Amino acid sequence: MQLKQNFSLQPYHTFRTAVFAKEFATFSSLEQLAELLDYAKQQPTLILGGGSNILFTKNFDGLVLKNELKGITLIKEDADYYYVKAAAGEVWHQFVLYCIEKQYNGIENLSLIPGLVGACPMQNIGAYGVEIKDIFYALSAYHIKEKKMVNFTLQDCAFGYRESVFKGKYKNQFVITDVTFRLSKQPTFNISYGAIEQALQSMQITTLSAKAISDAVIHIRSSKLPNPHELPNAGSFFKNPVISITQFEEIKKEHTSLTGYQENNELIKISAAWLIEKCGWKGCRKNDVGCHTKQALVLVNYGNATGTEIVDFSEGIINDVKNKFNITLQREVNII
Ligand code: FAD
Ligand code: EPU
Repeated sequence: MQLKQNFSLQPYHTFRTAVFAKEFATFSSLEQLAELLDYAKQQPTLILGGGSNILFTKNFDGLVLKNELKGITLIKEDADYYYVKAAAGEVWHQFVLYCIEKQYNGIENLSLIPGLVGACPMQNIGAYGVEIKDIFYALSAYHIKEKKMVNFTLQDCAFGYRESVFKGKYKNQFVITDVTFRLSKQPTFNISYGAIEQALQSMQITTLSAKAISDAVIHIRSSKLPNPHELPNAGSFFKNPVISITQFEEIKKEHTSLTGYQENNELIKISAAWLIEKCGWKGCRKNDVGCHTKQALVLVNYGNATGTEIVDFSEGIINDVKNKFNITLQREVNII
């Protein structure tokens, strides 16, 4: 057990704010994880993956445990599917590329999402028409208080839009140690998200394949999302709000460009980026915090922003969207 004291977390999270952990350690086996959690006892503990969905507003007064569990195994197959288990410390995008190479289909739309496998069920990551719930089979997690492994099925996880039991009722109770995906033997090309088709056309790709879709997704993402290594950020800072169709129609009377994705007979999901842009925030900057110039949903750190400054900036956006549209934006990023 190698513990480091007063340890800088700045290189370990993509917003790159300057914060320290009272103690820090890595774990690459379940035994090490159990030993470290025993050591931590009552002090606060934070499991860290790639740090791409976290905003630290202060130093962490406890033990940060960086996940380095590795390994990918094909555990079984049937007529239609491969069941592939990945340890929680595998890098998500590397895992996606590995699956594409092996012709394990259905994961390709989730290319280039930063972070590690272990965090993907936390908020049921999603992009370009696919969410984890669509390819999820099971996961294993360590119950911190009861000191035992627990298996979760798809139903157990209660996945929703950027939600799961691990972000909700079991928050901070489990460490996810591996995730098993059910990936199709036959290609399942999902190009329902308009931007994919446009990208395939502009890249002059005429033969569909999982690799082609992955390339198109990488192309779209690279063209509008800031690379955290160049401009620190945590992806979408807010969730897209789900509003009533009545409210949608009301807003649309004045703003004809508003579009939405109908969830059911009563509710419709609309673009938070559009709302933020309409409130005049896109491209705005205050000191070192900014609203990205190409994607209004992403807040960026131009250098020395603090977590508190980023939260204050986001508060300004929330207030303006509330005043103009009577919609309360929810933050997607985990604020610590
Ligand atoms: P971290 O940020 O390290 O952790 C996130 C939360 O999960 C924390 O609360 C942490 O304590 C907890 N946690 C992490 N690992 C475990 C574990 N093993 N067990 C228990 N708890 C754990 N998200 C999307 O859904 N779709 C996107 O398209 C998308 N695009 C992004 C683009 C950019 C440029 C960036 C920076 C982020 C984007 N994200 C997106 C958000 C982020 O990449 C995902 O949420 C990702 O899954 C976070 O993984 P991570 O390993 O970095 O998690
Ligand atoms: N739009 C604007 N202004 C902008 C950006 C977008 O008006 O500055 C409008 C446009 O009409 C555009 C629409 O919003 O057509 C949708 O934009 P985009 O395709 O970029 O998707 P998004 O709704 O802004 C969501 C996810 C992303 C995910 C993409 C692709 C959330 C909170 N965000 O963004 O996830 O990659 O769809 O599926 O659901 C993340 O969670 O961190 C993340 C990046």
